[in-house]
Amino acid sequence: MKGVILAGGLGTRLYPLTKVTNKHLLPVYDKPMIFYPIRSLINAGIHDILLVTGGNNAGDFLRLIGNGKDFGLAHINYTYQQGEGGIAEALRLAEYWSAGDRICVILGDNIIEKNIAKAVESYRRQEKGAKILLKEVPDPERFGVPILEGDRVVGIEEKPKKPRSRYAVTGIYLFDGRVFEIIRTLKPSERGELEITDVNNAYIARGELTWDILDGWWTDAGTFESLRKATNLVAETGANRLD
Ligand code: G1P
Repeated sequence: MKGVILAGGLGTRLYPLTKVTNKHLLPVYDKPMIFYPIRSLINAGIHDILLVTGGNNAGDFLRLIGNGKDFGLAHINYTYQQGEGGIAEALRLAEYWSAGDRICVILGDNIIEKNIAKAVESYRRQEKGAKILLKEVPDPERFGVPILEGDRVVGIEEKPKKPRSRYAVTGIYLFDGRVFEIIRTLKPSERGELEITDVNNAYIARGELTWDILDGWWTDAGTFESLRKATNLVAETGANRLD
C-alpha cells in the first residue's frame, strides 16, 4: 500500500499565520505539522509516500524533508497542486504515481496519538472499496459526519448544521485504485471544491465502504483553536510514538 499526504491549500482559517508560509509547516509543539502525518504513515508500515503540496512555499517542504532520510525513508515523492480545488482535487494528482495500487490518504493537518496499523491491516484484507476512520467528537458540525444505521454508515454529510451523529470522519482514508474514476465524476460543492465526502458517499452508494473507530486522540490543526489543542495534546501525551 502507498501513502498520500495532502498538504496544499491556502490555510485561510489561520491567517495571518499562513500569509507567508504553508499551514503544514507551522509548529505543533516541537515539530512542523507535516512531520506528524509522515510519522503516522511510517508507523503503520507505509514507506512509499507522496506529498501533495501547493501555493507559494512548496520549496520549503523540500528544504525541510529532503529525500526523507531523517524519517528513515529511502526516498519521498512530491507533487504540486496548482490553485485551490479541494481535497479530492488534490488527491487526483496522485493517480499517475499510485498506478492502481491501494492508498492510505492522510490530511496534512490531522494529528493522531496511536498507530493506525490495525485499520490498515484490516483494509488490506478487504476485497475492494474504501475504509474510513471515525472518532467521537464534541463538535461534529465542523467535520464530515456519518449517518449510522445500526453498524452501517449510510451517508456522510459535510459540515452539517444539525449533525446526525456525534462522530467525525477523520482525515485518514483508505481507497482502492478506482478512487480516481470516482473523482472524475464529482461536481464542485457550494464552497467550490471537490469534496472528499462525495468520494466516500460514492463508495457508500456502491456498498463498498467500511469503517473503524480510530484509537487514541485525534485532532485537526487547521483553526486557531484546533492548532492550540494539537499543540497541547502533543506536549502532554506525545504523538506518533514508534510503537
Ligand atoms: C476536511 C473534510 C472533512 C473531514 C475533515 C477532517 O475538512 O472535508 O470531511 O472531517 O477534513 O479533518 P476541512 O477541515 O478540510 O474543511
